[in-house]
Amino acid sequence: MKYSLLRGMQDIFSEQIYLWQYIEENARKILENYNFQEIRTPILENAELFLRSIGEDTDIVEKEMYIFQDKKGRKIALRPEGTASVVRAYIQHNFFNSPPPQKFYYIGPMFRYERPQKGRFRQFHQIGVECFGVSSSWIDAELIYLLKQFLEKLNINNLTYEINSLGCKSCRPQYRKVLFSFLTDKVGQLCIDCKRRFDKNPLRVLDCKVPSCKESLKNTPLIVDFLCQDCKEHFISLQRELDEMNISYTVNPKIVRGLDYYTRTVFEVTTTMLGAQNAVAAGGRYDDLVELFGGPSIPAAGFAIGMERLIEICSNSLLIKPKKPFVYVAYTGSSIENEAKKVVNLLRNNNIPTETAYEKLSLKSQLRKADRVGANIVIIIGEDEIKKSVYIWKNMKDGSQGEASLNELLELIRRKYDTE
Ligand code: HAM
Repeated sequence: MKYSLLRGMQDIFSEQIYLWQYIEENARKILENYNFQEIRTPILENAELFLRSIGEDTDIVEKEMYIFQDKKGRKIALRPEGTASVVRAYIQHNFFNSPPPQKFYYIGPMFRYERPQKGRFRQFHQIGVECFGVSSSWIDAELIYLLKQFLEKLNINNLTYEINSLGCKSCRPQYRKVLFSFLTDKVGQLCIDCKRRFDKNPLRVLDCKVPSCKESLKNTPLIVDFLCQDCKEHFISLQRELDEMNISYTVNPKIVRGLDYYTRTVFEVTTTMLGAQNAVAAGGRYDDLVELFGGPSIPAAGFAIGMERLIEICSNSLLIKPKKPFVYVAYTGSSIENEAKKVVNLLRNNNIPTETAYEKLSLKSQLRKADRVGANIVIIIGEDEIKKSVYIWKNMKDGSQGEASLNELLELIRRKYDTE
């Protein structure tokens, strides 16, 4: 084989694709119940869009972006996430002129040049949602509720829901100062990345996964103790709403998330089934991002689910029926080919999944093929039957068989297909 997949990328097919389709169909159904509308944004955007929103000192921007120059020398990026693109679209199409809330969802590939491992890919897929125009913690709670409802629908129950508040532009600078002076004593013990981040964006240090950094940060001051009155009330009311919704969660004051645009609520949904890459979904509020991109001051919140991680944890518990042709049209004799085409078209036009041989084969090998593709019913078209205007049908599941006219056959098949 001359060519193979790029590292960290996957082909998705066979049994796996049914699982993907099932999850996507369920996601669309539930998101549309909550009045989220689908948005499809391009995979390529100006790199600047991500540098400014995700933040220059984040892992994504520092190490993981796929960036290249186009033929005009513009700096282009493969999107590493969906939020920045949706915010760009929200402003570009003046969605803020319509009454809030505006709710969008997207399903699609994202790209991060990370070291591939279980649950971590370079091309991965997210189901994401973004809601604009609501500052109430009601929406934050509702996003978490929606996420839980969706995951439970997929039989995924053993998950941990963690929340935190990162404050806002009025209280976070105060915390930053306190954190900076706490870290000043420890900077010698931090990893190279953290030493560099410490100056520009000390909050990023809290996110570091290096064990020695984690150890040095054990007694770090916590942001929840520095929230302004409004942020405190917002966080308390979020917790009250989650309690009312019977969602069990923990407050983890060390969650800062790997992207800089968050304000107030952040949350992560984790599992023990994925090893180090334990976050199945994550999100939060980003009340300043629309304004940062040149739009009006509009609050917003959202989350994204990692599809590959979701698939990994539900592939054993979800039994999805593979999609198969319901009918197989077999024919004997090449003069019958046109008759076979007519029957195949008739069935497909009646929305009955149908397959045929497309070539001259013995009846025996056509029946073998029908069995292999999992067809429920085989129609056999033979010269003698055509003369009588009847077709033989055979039920591959229970072995019954008979003869019927085309109309009777269609009726019989449709009845069986509808009760499947
Ligand atoms: P994120 O935490 O960077 O947030 O990604 C969300 C989810 O995408 C993760 O929890 C994980 O399941 C999945 N994911 C991330 N990187 C990879 C990877 N390399 N391989 C496989 N799965 C991965 C965001 O992207 C935000 N835009 C979420 C958001 C939406 N916040 C507000 N709105």
